[in-house]
Amino acid sequence: MESSAYPMLFSPIKVGTTEVKNRVFMPPVSTNLADHGYVTDDLVDHYRARAKGGVGLIITEVVTVEPTYTYLPGDMCCYDDTFIPGWEKLAAAVHEYGCKIMPQLFHPA
Ligand SMILES: Cc1cc2nc3c(=O)[nH]c(=O)nc-3n(C[C@H](O)[C@H](O)[C@H](O)COP(=O)(O)O)c2cc1C
Repeated sequence: MESSAYPMLFSPIKVGTTEVKNRVFMPPVSTNLADHGYVTDDLVDHYRARAKGGVGLIITEVVTVEPTYTYLPGDMCCYDDTFIPGWEKLAAAVHEYGCKIMPQLFHPA
């Protein structure tokens, strides 16, 4: 992706200590594609496609941080270590394209 009209759009930016390759950020959009909180291949494919398209930073859909509250049944979770392998797979998929990813931590109470 290139743009002469918006030269800053495709220049790197730092978010804290993390450098993002451009300023194209994907906002959180729920997919309901997780399986009992676990990352699925469909989720990996969904976010990989956005990374391949050139997004610099993906902010995931809501991610449940503790088990007592569920928003959508297909939301991702991160409240114990059993979720780590799925997150590793998801992160690796978008990193292939130089894209960064951060979860939208979600607790409504
Ligand atoms: C289907 C759908 C799912 C969404 N899921 C989330 C979500 O998980 N977390 C969140 O903060 N916002 C969510 N949003 C809001 C989007 O992030 C928001 O629509 C997007 O940032 C664009 O902003 P706008 O609607 O004000 O133009 C969702 C929106 C849609 C349409």
